[in-house]
Amino acid sequence: MPSAYDSAANVPAVYNDIVVRRFAIMTVIWGIVGMTVGVVIAAELIWPDLNMGVSWLSYGRLRPLHTNAVIFAFGGSGLFAASYYVVQRTSHVRLISDRVANFTFWGWQLVIVLATITLPLGITQGKEYAELEWPIDLLITIVWVAYAYVFFGTLAIRKIKHIYVANWFFAAYIITVAVLHVVNNLAIPVSLTKSYPIYAGVVDAMVEWWYGHNAVGFFLTAAFLGMMYYFVPKQAGRPIYSYRLSIVHFWALISIYMWAGPHHLHYSTLPDWAQSLGMVFSVILLAPSWGGMINGIMTLSGAWDKLRTDPILKFLIVSLSFYGMATFEGPMMAIKTVNALSHNTDWTIGHVHSGALGWVAFMTIGSLYSLIPRLYGRREMWSTRLIEWHFWISTVGVVLYVTSMWIAGVMQGLMWRATNPDGTLTYTFVEALKATYPYYMVRLTGGVLFLGGMFLMLFNVVKTVNPAESRDTAVAVPAI
Ligand code: HEM
Ligand code: HEM
Repeated sequence: MPSAYDSAANVPAVYNDIVVRRFAIMTVIWGIVGMTVGVVIAAELIWPDLNMGVSWLSYGRLRPLHTNAVIFAFGGSGLFAASYYVVQRTSHVRLISDRVANFTFWGWQLVIVLATITLPLGITQGKEYAELEWPIDLLITIVWVAYAYVFFGTLAIRKIKHIYVANWFFAAYIITVAVLHVVNNLAIPVSLTKSYPIYAGVVDAMVEWWYGHNAVGFFLTAAFLGMMYYFVPKQAGRPIYSYRLSIVHFWALISIYMWAGPHHLHYSTLPDWAQSLGMVFSVILLAPSWGGMINGIMTLSGAWDKLRTDPILKFLIVSLSFYGMATFEGPMMAIKTVNALSHNTDWTIGHVHSGALGWVAFMTIGSLYSLIPRLYGRREMWSTRLIEWHFWISTVGVVLYVTSMWIAGVMQGLMWRATNPDGTLTYTFVEALKATYPYYMVRLTGGVLFLGGMFLMLFNVVKTVNPAESRDTAVAVPAI
């Protein structure tokens, strides 16, 4: 039976939830696309011939497609959805412009489609997480400026004097990503599909990792903390544990993150003092990171029992646990002596995915399960049981992925540095590679499970949004 909430007459009367719905649905779809490519490249690392001689299916072409799809398409769409939803609810106003918000949706999808075409064709700037060529970079800039207009414009017309802390995190991410994107992508075009960066040598490397690290810090961290600060209290039905802590750790986090980038360039030609600076700031970063994690987890004080019955809360809390783990591990890996072992090994890949799958994907999935029924006027998702299944499948998946890569990474590091009494290397590189294969199989299994969970989610979402399948008739979901 059609719900009153499905008609354009109801929802948009107060808030623009149409654009939020679109971004939310595309988050699930891009999640499946990006993770499917992740599974394919995980398999290609075991069976390199899997590309069947087709260049655009080769590992080197698909790897950047994976990272772009999961970070910017899946993560990005989730962040657009969450920030648009949260800024309206916490400001008690509709988005400042439906047309511009709509433009950000179609513009962002166009960017993703262009990435999906150009990356497999091998059109790339060769800068990690900034592979897209200059015409697409220009489009990203225009969409981002429009995004900033919608977000800050909405804040400017808010009816609530106070700006809720989630919006602080979203604001920091929107501003910082704009600066990072523009500075790192300054390049001289030589054709429509080729450009050269204006930086050279170690300066180029430093600018790239200032960008890369802060993309992690602001895109994959600060923005998802914004998501966390709305959806964890909402789902737990409790106020945030400490509002003061949220403000303190916000300022500490954003001011410290900026200086930690050089930990990606340890033992490189970057001046030693810069490497040490990056190391020190990375270690300090543990404190504000854990401030955020503790604040999120402690929000459940007095409501721990809900964890037994609410799989959405499980997603959110396990996500915070992974955030805690990744932000403990990261500072350790930033210590130069530890990095001497971990760098270039699969330990880094384990760290990345404990952050990316454990923190980012879990937070996104949990928030979407909380958000989607509200957007469509349903009391809850079509099946809570399926969410429970999704939770357990993806938890096993991420644990298999991360632990296998940790073990493989430490093993590789130790094998590469092992020497005989006469000073020669104990193992050849190929021996270390051969020893890694069993772990690649475990990682692939973990990836397939995680992807399987995403299909369960898609099924559940389709059933939830389809009025004909709705198990509850139009429910008056509170607007705020
Ligand atoms: C089914 C889930 C996934 C699978 C099977 C998967 C698999 C992979 C593989 C095989 C690589 C290349 C590793 C290497 O170079 O040795 C990789 C890299 C990467 N993935 Fe994933 N991935 C998944 C989900 C995600 C998600 C959800 C994110 C982000 C939100 C993500 C972010 C990244 C990043 C940033 C890298 C590059 C890491 C680096 O350069 O150090 N992945 N992934
Ligand atoms: C206090 C917080 C963190 C610190 C200090 C930190 C530190 C580090 C260090 C030292 C590396 C290895 C660099 C190398 O040897 O090449 C690294 C890699 C990475 N980390 Fe973190 N990390 C933190 C949190 C996170 C989180 C929460 C995520 C994801 C959401 C994340 C994503 C990544 C990615 C994607 C890479 C791989 C970059 C690349 O080489 O392509 N990190 N991090």
